[in-house]
Amino acid sequence: MVARTLSVLTLLVILCASMAVGQSNRITVQADAGTETINRHIYGHFAEHLGRGIYDGIWYRNADGEFEIRDDVVEALRAIQIPNLRWPGGCFADYYFWKDGIGPVEDRPTIVNTNWGGVTEDNSVGTHEFMELVERLGTEPIVVGNVGSGIVQDMAQWWEYVNHPGTSPMADWRRENGRDEPWNIRYWGVGNESWGCGGNMRPEYYADLYRRFATFLPAYENVRPFRIAAGPAGDDYNWTEVMMREAADMMDGLDIHHYTILGDWVTRKGHATEYGEAEWFELMRRSWQVEEIIEGHREIMDRYDPEKRIWMIMGEWGTWHEQEEGSTPGFLYQQNTIRDALVAGHQLNVFNNHADRIKMANIAQTVNVLQAMILTRGEQLILTPTYHVFEFYNVHHDATLLPIEVEVAPYEFQGQSIQAVNATASQADDGSINITLVNLDPNAPRSIETVLSGANVRSVEGRVLTADDMRAHNTFDNPEVVSPQVFNGARLSGNTLNVDLPAKSVVVLTLR
Ligand code: AHR
Repeated sequence: MVARTLSVLTLLVILCASMAVGQSNRITVQADAGTETINRHIYGHFAEHLGRGIYDGIWYRNADGEFEIRDDVVEALRAIQIPNLRWPGGCFADYYFWKDGIGPVEDRPTIVNTNWGGVTEDNSVGTHEFMELVERLGTEPIVVGNVGSGIVQDMAQWWEYVNHPGTSPMADWRRENGRDEPWNIRYWGVGNESWGCGGNMRPEYYADLYRRFATFLPAYENVRPFRIAAGPAGDDYNWTEVMMREAADMMDGLDIHHYTILGDWVTRKGHATEYGEAEWFELMRRSWQVEEIIEGHREIMDRYDPEKRIWMIMGEWGTWHEQEEGSTPGFLYQQNTIRDALVAGHQLNVFNNHADRIKMANIAQTVNVLQAMILTRGEQLILTPTYHVFEFYNVHHDATLLPIEVEVAPYEFQGQSIQAVNATASQADDGSINITLVNLDPNAPRSIETVLSGANVRSVEGRVLTADDMRAHNTFDNPEVVSPQVFNGARLSGNTLNVDLPAKSVVVLTLR
C-alpha cells in the first residue's frame, strides 16, 4: 500500500514538473524603455549591537585584548560593494548613549544590552570604531539616534560631534579624540521601531516627537541631514497614514520593517535548516506578501507625496528563524540555506521593480545575526548562500531598471499556488543588460522564452546558485556546498533568449 501511494505521488510530481516545463513561459523585457534608476542603497546592510554581530563577529579580540576589525570580513563585504551600513540598531539604538562609546576605551562605562540576551558590553565599539569600519568598507553610514530613552540635546550633540566642520564644543571634543575632519554622516534615523522596542508610542505621539527631534539636526556647509522617520511594522498602514499626514514636510525617508517569518512568531518560529516542502512553500508564499505590503504603503505615500521626494526604505528585512539550538539566548544566530537565498533574490527583485519609490533597504543583519551574509566561528569564516545572491545582484547597483513582464507557470503545492518566478532586468552604463531570475519551485525547472524588445545584444553569459537538496547550506566543515556555478542554460537567438531555469535557483545573466 505504501509503495503504491509512493508511486502515485511520484507520478504526480513528474506530471506537475512536466506541465510546468511544458506550459508556455514567457518574459518580456522592454530594453529601450528604462526610466528609473535602481538606487544602489537598496543593497544596504545593518549591523546592530546584538549577539555576535559586532563583538566576536565584525570585531575580534586581538592578542592584546583589544577589539580589532577582522580583515576577512572587510574583504568579503567589499566584494559585494555594500553601499551603506545601518548602526547601532535596531532596538539597541533606543537604549544607546553615544557618549559612553567615546574616548579611551578603558574609561568607557559598560552597558546592559537589555533587548538582546541581557549581556553587559563595554562600549569598545563606539562612533570612532564604527566609522573606521565604514571607511575600510568604502560604504556610507546610517546612524540611528536614540529617541525612545534619550533626549533631544543628546541626539543633537551626536550630530554636531560627527558633522560640525568648525569650532564647536562637540567638534573640539571629536578632535581631542583624534579625528580632525568631520565624517559628514547624512543618513540619520530618528528612532527605531517607535511603535515597539523604541518606545511603544502611538503614531500621533511619535509624529510630534519626530518633528521635535528632527528640528535639531541642522544643515552645515558640508552636510545636510537626510532625516529618516521610524516607519511601520509590516502592514500597519495607519502608522504610514499618520506619519505622512503629520510629518512628511520634515521627512526624507520612511523606514518600514518587514521580516519573513514562519510559525508562531511569539512562541516558536520556523526551523532554519530542518523543513519539508510544506514549510518551504509557506515561506515563499510569505515572501510574496512583501509586494502587497509595499503596494499598501506606496498608495498612502503617493497620496501625500506624489513627487516621490520621500524615500520608501525597507530598513529591516529578511528571514527570521528560530535561533540555532545551543546558541546564546537572545543572540539570533541562525543558519542560512538555499531557501533563504531564494527569499533574498526574490525580495530584491520586488524592491528593484519598485525602484521609483523604494530607494534604500537593509537586510538584517550582516554577520552572525538573522539572515547574515557571513558566519564566523573563532578564526573561521563562511559565506552564506544569501551572500552569493548579493554578489550576483551587484550588477543592478545604480543601473537603469527595464520594464519587465513575467508570465510563468505557477508553483503549486497542496491546492495552493504562488507565482514561481520573478525577475529584474536592468541596463548598466556600458550598455550591457543584466537579468536576475529566481525560481521558487523546489521541484520543477522552467523553460522560459525571454523577448528583449528594443535590445541590441549578441552574447549571453551567466551564473547560477542552486542545490540538489532543498536544505543545503554551507558549514564550517563544508563551506562551499551552495556556491555560484557557471550557468550554461541560456541561448540567444536574435533578441530572444531561451533560459532553462533550474528548480530552486537564482540566476544572473549578462547580455552584451
Ligand atoms: O533585527 C533584530 C531586531 O528586529 C531589531 O533590533 C529591531 O529593530 C527589529 O524588531
